[in-house]
Amino acid sequence: MHQRPEDIIVVLDFGAQYGQLIARRVRECRVYSELLPCDTPLDKVLELRPKGIILSGGQASVYDPNAPKYDPKIFELGIPVLGICYGMQLMAHLLGGKVAPAEKAEYGRTELRVLDDSDLFAGLNPQLICWMSHSDVVLEPPKGFKVTARTNNAPVAAMSDPQRKLFGVLFHPEVSHTPWGIEIIRNFVYNWCGCKPTWTPRNFVEATVEAIRERVKNERVLCALSGGVDSTTTAALVHRAVGDQLTCIFVNHGFLRKGEPERVIHTFRELLNVNLVYVDASERFLRRLKGVTDPEEKRKIIGEEFVRVFEEEARKLGHIRFLAQGTLYPDVIESGTRHAARIKTHHNVGGLPPDMKFELIEPLRYLFKDEVREVAEELGLPPEIAWRHPFPGPGLAIRILGEVTPERLDTLREADAIVMEEIRRAGLYRQVWQAFAVLLPLRSTGVKGDRRTYGYTIAIRAVTSEDGMTADWARLPHEVLDRIANRICNEVEGVNRVVYDITSKPPATIEWE
Ligand code: XMP
Repeated sequence: MHQRPEDIIVVLDFGAQYGQLIARRVRECRVYSELLPCDTPLDKVLELRPKGIILSGGQASVYDPNAPKYDPKIFELGIPVLGICYGMQLMAHLLGGKVAPAEKAEYGRTELRVLDDSDLFAGLNPQLICWMSHSDVVLEPPKGFKVTARTNNAPVAAMSDPQRKLFGVLFHPEVSHTPWGIEIIRNFVYNWCGCKPTWTPRNFVEATVEAIRERVKNERVLCALSGGVDSTTTAALVHRAVGDQLTCIFVNHGFLRKGEPERVIHTFRELLNVNLVYVDASERFLRRLKGVTDPEEKRKIIGEEFVRVFEEEARKLGHIRFLAQGTLYPDVIESGTRHAARIKTHHNVGGLPPDMKFELIEPLRYLFKDEVREVAEELGLPPEIAWRHPFPGPGLAIRILGEVTPERLDTLREADAIVMEEIRRAGLYRQVWQAFAVLLPLRSTGVKGDRRTYGYTIAIRAVTSEDGMTADWARLPHEVLDRIANRICNEVEGVNRVVYDITSKPPATIEWE
C-alpha cells in the first residue's frame, strides 16, 4: 500500500545511537529515506532500488569478533555509498585500508581541517567544528581513496573515491553539534546520488490518497480517533481518499483535557464533514478505576476497557473490512530492530481489538512526527491540531497520582488549562515538546487571606525533546512560571502549592506514571 517515491536513500543501521537521525536529515533534504537493520541481505536492500546507501555509526570495532559486517559487494554496484563513523571504518576495513584503535579516543566537539573540497566538502570552509564519537581511527584509506579531511588525532577523518562514488566521514554529520553537517548529506544525496528534492507533503498526500483509494475500492474503513495529530491526520487522509466510506469512532474515556471532546467533535463533524460516532464512556471508565492506585494497573484497565467500548461500537456498524491506524515510523523501527525494556505499557488509541479481524491501513507508517505535522497542514487541518503536543492514550488518569476521582479530574483539568493558556500566551507552545500539569494527592499547609489552608500540590512539567525518547526540562521564563503558579492557586479550588519539575529523561520519564 505504501507508495515509495522513486528516489530512495537507504540507511543501514549498524547499531547507531543516531540511526533515525540520519534518515530524518536526508528527509529534511526532501529526499525519502528508510532505515534498515544491518542484517538486511543486500538483495533485499536492492529491491528498494536505492539511489544511494548510508552506512551508519555503531558501537563496535571492526576487529570485534561479533562486529556487524556487510557484504562487500555493496561497494561494487555503482551505487554511491557514504560511511559514517563505524560505517567508514567498515568501508575502510572491507576494502583493504588500515583501521586501528585511536591513541586518544575523540569524543565531542572537534576541529576538522578540510584537505580537499572537490566532492563531499564542496562549498564548505576549510576549517570546521564537527562532532566526533569514536575509539577506532582509519590510519590508511583503501587503495583508490584520497584523504579529504583530518583532525589532530585522526589522520583520515574523511575519505573519498569519487570514481567509485564511495565516501566516508569519521564524524557525525547528522547531529546538531555538527552544524554544517546537513551540507555533507545534501552534497551526497543531490550531487552524487542524483536525487531530486521531491519528498514533499504535497507529493506524499497525492500518492497516499491514490494508494488508499486503490486498495479500499468500495469497502468501508473504520478509524479510532483520539484528537491527536496522528489519528486526525490518518482520518483526514483516508477521508480525502474514500469520503463517506470512512467512519470514525471517538471514545471519550473521561480523561481528556478541558474542551477537548468538543474540539474533536467540531473538527470532524463541522470542519471535515466525517461520519463520526461519539461515545461518552467516562462513567464506565471511572467505575473501573475506583480504588486503583498502581500506574501499570491503571494503564492496563484503561487499555482493556477502551478495546471493549470500541468493539461494541464497531459491531453496531456491521461489516467493515479495514481499520486505519496512525502508526508512525519510529514505532515501526523500534519494533523491528530494538528490544527495549518495558518501562510503561503504552496504550494507543486505535489499538487493534484482538479478536476482530481487520485489514490495517497505516498511511503514516513511514513518517516521522514532524513530517506528520507538515502533512496535517497540507491537508488543511487547523494549526491547533497540526502542532498539538503529544498526549498519552490514558490521558489525565496517569497525571493524577493515586486514585482517579471526578473531583481530582476537575482540579487537574482546570490547572492544566491554565498551564496551556499561559504557555501559548508566552509564545512558547511550539518550542516545547510537551507542557502539562500533574496532580499530586499530597496535602500541605498554606495561607489564603488570613486563613490556614490544607490543599493539593500541582506539579508543572514542561520538556524539550526531539522524539520523546530523551528529554530535557524546559527552561521556562520565571515570569511565565510565576503567572502559572499565581493563577492556579487563585483560580483552582483546593490547590495551594505549585512546584516545577526539573528532572530530565532519563532518569525521570516525561509522564509521572
Ligand atoms: P514517557 O512518560 O514514557 O513518555 O517518557 C514518552 C512520550 O510518550 C507519551 N506517552 C504515551 N503515548 N500512549 C501514548 O500514545 C501512552 O500510553 C503513553 N504514555 C506516555 C508521553 O506523553 C511522551 O510524549
